[in-house]
Amino acid sequence: MATRNRALSLVTAAILLLPICHTVHILETCGFDSIYQLGDSVSDTGNLIRENPSSVYAKLPYGETYFNNATGRCSNGLIMIDYFARSAGLPFLDAYLNENASHGSGVDFAVAGATALSVEILSERESLVTVPDDWSYQETSRQDLNNLSIYHNTHLKKALETLRKEHPNVIIVYGDIYEAYNWILSDAKILGFDAESIQRACCGIGGDYNFNITKMCGVSGVPVCSNPDKSLSWDGAHLTQQAYKFMARWLIYDIYPKLQCQ
Ligand SMILES: *[C@@H]1O[C@H](CO)[C@@H](O)[C@H](O)[C@H]1NC(C)=O
Ligand SMILES: *[C@@H]1O[C@H](CO)[C@@H](O)[C@H](O)[C@H]1NC(C)=O
Ligand SMILES: *[C@@H]1O[C@H](CO)[C@@H](O)[C@H](O)[C@H]1NC(C)=O
Ligand SMILES: *[C@@H]1O[C@H](CO)[C@@H](O)[C@H](O)[C@H]1NC(C)=O
Repeated sequence: MATRNRALSLVTAAILLLPICHTVHILETCGFDSIYQLGDSVSDTGNLIRENPSSVYAKLPYGETYFNNATGRCSNGLIMIDYFARSAGLPFLDAYLNENASHGSGVDFAVAGATALSVEILSERESLVTVPDDWSYQETSRQDLNNLSIYHNTHLKKALETLRKEHPNVIIVYGDIYEAYNWILSDAKILGFDAESIQRACCGIGGDYNFNITKMCGVSGVPVCSNPDKSLSWDGAHLTQQAYKFMARWLIYDIYPKLQCQ
């Protein structure tokens, strides 16, 4: 544990002390000309709200901090892929379903809720991960869910090993969001988050987590905290822009050497 903490602190120091332009634009040295994003609500830049304009993500307070308007991003502002694009010197990714978008430097196919596939469908597709049939959110503890993530990620890393062997000329890197998030949790205070309310959503109401699934962020009467930059969780399911910014920095710092850019 001590070793791990020391390692995390070194990362914190490195990330906080590097000149801003270095961390912010470091991926420019890779010369990427496009980004294609697949995923769910963590990386949707506006697909779901075009499929479903009455979604809560289609209106404020979503987007209040950066865009001053909802864009379909499930946060108060920018999300991780925006920071990746910025670091690579590319424009923010337009949603695939935005018919007026240029898509010249990539496109975002991610749709909020996209991974809500049933266990049956996942196993039909010979998914690498088998989820126990009785897996249900209500009955599982946080430890169970953490274990599920670790289990999933272990298998994902093995699958990437296979993929690398099949495609030796392609650089395939693994971005460890689980570890990035653990880093933010353990160094929350140094990073400027309010450590006392680390488990509480900025936008939400009720309970230990300021989260109630029947009264979520975006529903009328649900309050928003005054300084989202102090919170990790935006709405109980997604992170704030400030948390995504640090997540992206950790990930860029971690994967950059593996991209062999210089
Ligand atoms: C705000 O976002 C909505 C869709 O989420 C869009 O219809 C509207 O035109 C936007 N308003 C401005 C001022 O950009
Ligand atoms: C695309 O642009 C056209 C022309 O400006 C406009 O009429 C149309 O509503 C736009 N579509 C979307 C989805 O924003
Ligand atoms: C989760 O992992 C921890 C540490 O490896 C282990 O002690 C615990 O029994 C696991 N819990 C479940 C539900 O698998
Ligand atoms: C969640 O909201 C519902 C309806 O507003 C309420 O009945 C319930 O007690 C709330 N739960 C918590 C944990 O606050």
